[in-house]
Amino acid sequence: MGTTRGRGKGNGISLGLKIEPFIGENLPVTLIIAPTPENIKKASVALKNGALIGMPTETVYGLAGDAENECAVKRIYDVKGRPYDHPLIVHIGSHEYLDKWAVNIPEYARKLASEFWPGPITLILERTTLAKDFITGNQDSVGIRFPSHNTAIELLKAFHSLGGNGLAAPSANNFGAVSPTEAEAVNEELGRNLTLHFDFILDGGNAQIGIESTIVSCLDARPSILRFGSITKSDIEQIVDIKPVNIDNSKKIKFSGKLEKHYSPLATLVLNSQPESGDGFIALKSVKTPINNVRLASPVDALEFAKQLYASLRKGDKLKLERINVILPVGTGIEIALEERLRKAAHQL
Ligand code: TXA
Ligand code: MG
Repeated sequence: MGTTRGRGKGNGISLGLKIEPFIGENLPVTLIIAPTPENIKKASVALKNGALIGMPTETVYGLAGDAENECAVKRIYDVKGRPYDHPLIVHIGSHEYLDKWAVNIPEYARKLASEFWPGPITLILERTTLAKDFITGNQDSVGIRFPSHNTAIELLKAFHSLGGNGLAAPSANNFGAVSPTEAEAVNEELGRNLTLHFDFILDGGNAQIGIESTIVSCLDARPSILRFGSITKSDIEQIVDIKPVNIDNSKKIKFSGKLEKHYSPLATLVLNSQPESGDGFIALKSVKTPINNVRLASPVDALEFAKQLYASLRKGDKLKLERINVILPVGTGIEIALEERLRKAAHQL
């Protein structure tokens, strides 16, 4: 269970909810709760009533709300400070919910879903009427993902059993900032904007993957990769006959990181740069720490690099470092996603 940084008095939003508070008035106030079966059940009821829940997933933590509840979804945007036209991913806890949200699903998309779900891949598909404009940012497509983290699956299943069809869940960070990979980081990012008695963060430990899901557009005859992740282009090629293409910038769809600043720490981030005294330094363990640099992480390989990256950037900010120098691992697997994220974080597009 995480620490108990006190929550504020809430943000004054009244949803007219009838939810029993999780925590008695005289207990220490905490947003972070253990994912016991009882708490997961309570969280699912809270979600059904319009509350927001910090939800652990295998990629990063999400800020979840009922994807059919406009009021809850609007609060997600407000809590994150995210523009309303930036679409949200709908999370489902069972394959059968795919067809509730999407129509005209290409065969290759079904193959990707059956191969990689539950897991870190989001499919962009033509929406049904269930996916309202307030989820899709007024687009005719919807992003859908079935995450593999046990707590997320249990929460989603409990939510489905109450009649819910899916949870909208962007990464649980302030807009443009680094995604959280642990419960306390969600509290640091958004805790002050969550509402006393209604919203909670389920502590699912450290995210196993550490960077956001691969996003694949399935709107055309061929899949296209909109955001790279731990499921790579070659992983996808092995499942579908048609080779995926990379982002098609001519299409007017909104995708992650299209904006200039994304995934960014407060410190200035530089990549593969000449070290300067006082820099934070992130590199594979095999790379020596430059003199007078503050080592923030020493992962042994690229997968561990991804897992530690966001927490290391946060650590650099906590130490109030002015500059963090990252030496990118080189390779054709998750390294591609790491480079994509870090270039956006460093504003080197
Ligand atoms: O791993 C993840 O995907 C995490 C966890 C919590 O599931 N979620 C996540 O959500 O990264 P978010 O909102 O931070 O990033 C999802 C990106 C958005 O930037 C959005 O532009 C893109 O997915 N997206 C969502 N729906 C889309 C759509 N219909 N068309 C194109 N892009 C879409
Ligand atoms: Mg995000």
